[in-house]
Amino acid sequence: MAKVKIALMPGDGIGNDVMDAAKIVLDKIALDAEYIHADIGWEFWRAEGEPLPQRTLDILAGCDCALFAAITSKPKEEAEAELVPELQGKGLIYRSPIVRLRQAFDLYVNLRPCKAFKGNPLNYRDDVDMVVFRENTQGLYAGVEFHPLPDEVRSVLEAHSPRMAAFEGVSSDDIALSTRIFTREGCQRIVRQAFEYAKKFGYPTVTLVEKPNVIRETSGLMVREARKIADEYPGIDLWETNVDAMVMWMVKNPQDYGVMASSNMFGDIVSDLAAQLVGGLGFAASGNIGDKLAVFEPTHGSAPKYAGQYKVNPTAMLLATKLMLDWLGETETAVALEKAIADVIAEGKSRTYDMGGESGTLEMAQAIADKL
Ligand code: NAI
Ligand code: MG
Repeated sequence: MAKVKIALMPGDGIGNDVMDAAKIVLDKIALDAEYIHADIGWEFWRAEGEPLPQRTLDILAGCDCALFAAITSKPKEEAEAELVPELQGKGLIYRSPIVRLRQAFDLYVNLRPCKAFKGNPLNYRDDVDMVVFRENTQGLYAGVEFHPLPDEVRSVLEAHSPRMAAFEGVSSDDIALSTRIFTREGCQRIVRQAFEYAKKFGYPTVTLVEKPNVIRETSGLMVREARKIADEYPGIDLWETNVDAMVMWMVKNPQDYGVMASSNMFGDIVSDLAAQLVGGLGFAASGNIGDKLAVFEPTHGSAPKYAGQYKVNPTAMLLATKLMLDWLGETETAVALEKAIADVIAEGKSRTYDMGGESGTLEMAQAIADKL
């Protein structure tokens, strides 16, 4: 029996192109692994009314981790209109399979490293090396939202918060409420993972990106818990920053930052900024990591206009593969893959269109595999 089981979910559009690129590298690496294909994406929504079929959840439950490429998603009305005729008018609602995966498997860490590779013409600077730990299941994206504001919710808020007086006289129909729920454990575990990573990979600081001076209770809880956890890591400094100032610092002095930790929405925003500093969507990979399962993916979507053309940059997908190798404890192979990617970028012979080159997706992947 193979040592590990890995699900491969190519999804839609260029998801298939970049998954083929990953397979070239995985073939070369020859892990002691069993690879299992799993269905996900638009095709399954249209035909079955379910972009994340139960059979995929079953496969994932039996796997150590998964590589996911990209899917297409569309707004509610369009989604309904594209269902096969038999499924229309049945009240099926499209929900993001990625968000569901994060919640179903409690993938509470969203890990997004953004490292500049020397020779990448898209770098903002060549010395950026940031790693964002974004909380992945709580906060503003947890989906506890109301519109109109239900009467019971409104009266409880009015009874408990004098600040609700500001909205007196506004009809509940005209009030939308999105909650930002943090739990103590949720704060602790994202910060702890950030410190563990800093320790493992030798980063001297962890920067907590929140806004406790204004969002006192949620950001405040995160800061208080982070200070306690920082005490357990004597060699690593905790830097506390406000998210608004942080985005300015990230543009001004990005080289000063290493590991960063943040809640769901702030982490989403700062990680997109960080990704752009090192070349954008072709270079941004992430891991969705829980205690039992982890799903690794490029950050980009299915880019329908390039689907099947094998033109897009495979680097993000290959960096996702590298993160997976790290997570599996295949440290030497992970280091070798990152070095192969860095060498090919530095040589500059094999470049996809986004880097100003003419190589195809699979050619660039092959050039990287050839270095392994
Ligand atoms: P997108 O990420 O698919 O593409 C935007 C543009 O970025 C592309 O047209 C292309 O110019 C560039 N790009 C993306 N990946 C690239 C790569 N590997 N190499 C070079 N250039 C690359 O975002 P868009 O167009 O907003 O969304 C397309 C579809 O993807 C939508 O249905 C959207 O819902 C979905 N999506 C899915 C995501 C996921 O699967 N995690 C994430 C983002 C969007
Ligand atoms: Mg995002």
